[in-house]
Amino acid sequence: MTETAPVAPTAPVAVVTGASTGIGEATARRLRGEGWTVYAVARREDRLAALAEETGVIAAACDITVEAEVTALRDRVLAEQGRVDALLNISGGARGTDRVGDAKDEDWAWMYEVNVLGTMRLTRAFLPALRENGEGTVLNLTSLAAQRAYEGGGGYNAAKFAEHAMTEALRLEEVEHNLRVIEIAPGLVHTPEFSLNRLGGDAEAADRVYAGVEKPLTSDDVARVCVFAVTLPHHVDLDLVTIKPVAQAAPHKVIRR
Ligand SMILES: NC(=O)c1ccc[n+]([C@@H]2O[C@H](COP(=O)([O-])OP(=O)(O)OC[C@H]3O[C@@H](n4cnc5c(N)ncnc54)[C@H](OP(=O)(O)O)[C@@H]3O)[C@@H](O)[C@H]2O)c1
Repeated sequence: MTETAPVAPTAPVAVVTGASTGIGEATARRLRGEGWTVYAVARREDRLAALAEETGVIAAACDITVEAEVTALRDRVLAEQGRVDALLNISGGARGTDRVGDAKDEDWAWMYEVNVLGTMRLTRAFLPALRENGEGTVLNLTSLAAQRAYEGGGGYNAAKFAEHAMTEALRLEEVEHNLRVIEIAPGLVHTPEFSLNRLGGDAEAADRVYAGVEKPLTSDDVARVCVFAVTLPHHVDLDLVTIKPVAQAAPHKVIRR
């Protein structure tokens, strides 16, 4: 090798939250398939370990509502890789379908903790390294629920609208650091746990969410869009992508056969 020969390129490094199931897992899997070094983040270590074994992602158990765990994750990634190229904030979710008049404090607090504060904590922790990178990316997985409210959606709408607002503020604040900020906002996605968790483990009620919809989005449909957005040349920013199944013309209009 001559002195001027280029250093062998190292794989870009991503931190993907929500990687134990659904959209996050599918995204971690696909990004790894593109040759990235992927830290797969969620609380359930057993699921992350299985994904690591199967795909070669790095399992990194972390509760994003606990500051010390987020700091430890950041320190680990930087100690092992010395850099981070992309942070994909996919952890999140909904609890309950109560109308505002019946809202349960604990459900609303949970939705804020995970969707809003969790996303903020990860972003804050990794921001210095993303700035230093010079071509960093943050992708936040919000929702159609971040754009249109619906009856029984108040708590989730409020949390996802907040996550959307934070995403816009971040884009404005960090453009001087060349940070690319992407928001992906899916409609109806048939993932294994989202509706089950929202509806307190009631499997029949969860099935009714997707009943008669021939082709709701799958985790992998959304993962493809996330990975496409993150692997585009860095100066191209898909700053807000709304992705719905064709059968869902609007949040309130879903064709069921
Ligand atoms: N499914 C839909 O229709 C839909 C539509 C639009 C947007 N979304 C959004 O898409 C994202 C993924 O949802 P999904 O449907 O794929 O599945 P999901 O079952 O809701 O998955 C949620 C993920 O978040 C992780 N998580 C929850 N609390 C956490 C915590 N305290 N710390 C770290 N990770 C935590 C979970 O992992 P652990 O339990 O292992 O921690 C899991 O991997 C969410 O932000 C959701 O709001 C979903």
